[in-house]
Amino acid sequence: MKTETSIQGLSASLNPARSARKIIGFIPTMGNLHEGHLNLVREARKLCDVVVVSIFVNPIQFGPNEDFDNYPRTLEQDSHLLAEVGCDIVFAPSVEQMYGHHPRLTNIRVGEITNDLCGLQRPGHFDGVAVVVTKLFNIVQPNYAFFGQKDYQQLAVIKQLVRDLNMPIEVIGVPIARAEDGLALSSRNGYLSAEHRQIAPVIYQSLKQAEQDLHAGKALLDVLTEIRMQLTQAGFVVDYVEARTPMLQKSDQFDQDIVLFVAAKIGNTRLIDNLQIKHIL
Ligand code: PAF
Repeated sequence: MKTETSIQGLSASLNPARSARKIIGFIPTMGNLHEGHLNLVREARKLCDVVVVSIFVNPIQFGPNEDFDNYPRTLEQDSHLLAEVGCDIVFAPSVEQMYGHHPRLTNIRVGEITNDLCGLQRPGHFDGVAVVVTKLFNIVQPNYAFFGQKDYQQLAVIKQLVRDLNMPIEVIGVPIARAEDGLALSSRNGYLSAEHRQIAPVIYQSLKQAEQDLHAGKALLDVLTEIRMQLTQAGFVVDYVEARTPMLQKSDQFDQDIVLFVAAKIGNTRLIDNLQIKHIL
C-alpha cells in the first residue's frame, strides 16, 4: 500500500491505472477509522481494481465551537488497518495542500436538504463537506465513491451534488455497521464512558421498536413521541427525532417508505443513527 500526501504524488500513482482504464474506487474519510470505514473498503474491493482512501480532517466543515483541533489524528494506526483490508493508496494531504495554494472563493450549497436535521445545528457544515468532496473527487477522479448510510443526510447531499453537477461518478451507500448490541459504529463512540456505552444502544432499540409499532399500525407521530420518551428516560438529551422520505422530504404519515432519524447527546457525546423502514401494503 502506498501513502501519498501531495496531489501531484497521488496523480503520479494513479496515472498508470487511469491509462489502463482500471476501475478506481474511492472512500473519503477523516481518519480515526473503525470497522464501518473498513467495510466501505471491503465493498470497494469487490467492485474496483484500485482502492483509494483519503484521510483528511477538513477544517471548513467544522463550526467555530466544534472539535476540529481535538479531532483524533491516528494516521499510523489507520494505515495498518487499511493495509489489512486491501486498500491500495492512502491519500493524506495537509490542510496547506488542500486549501493553501490560493484563496478559495467558491462555495457549494446543495439547497434545502442541507438546512434540515444535522444541518440545523451545524450551519455551513454540509457546504464544507460538498466543497471538500468535490475537490477530492476532482483530485482522485474515481469511478465509484463509497459512503456509509449512517451519515444518511451526508450521503443524500453527495448524491444530489453528483447528479446536479453531472459528475461522472457512481455514489454507493453502504449499510450501517453496528456493534453486537446494535450501536451504530462511529468514531465518537470512543468518547463514551463505560456507563454511557451501556446506555447508547437504546437509540437503535427504540428505532427497531418504532419499526415494529409502525408495521402494527401505530401512527407515525405517536411513534416519534415514544422514541423521544424512551431516549429521555434512558438519560439522553434529544436533539431531534424525525421522519423523512428517502429523498429527505418531510413526512408525518407512514404511507410510503420512510427513514427515521435520531440525534441525541449522552454526556458530552452526540450520537446519530437512522433506520430505513419499508412501507408494507
Ligand atoms: O464523513 C466524513 O468523514 C466526512 O464528512 C467526509 C465525507 C470525509 C468529508 O470530509
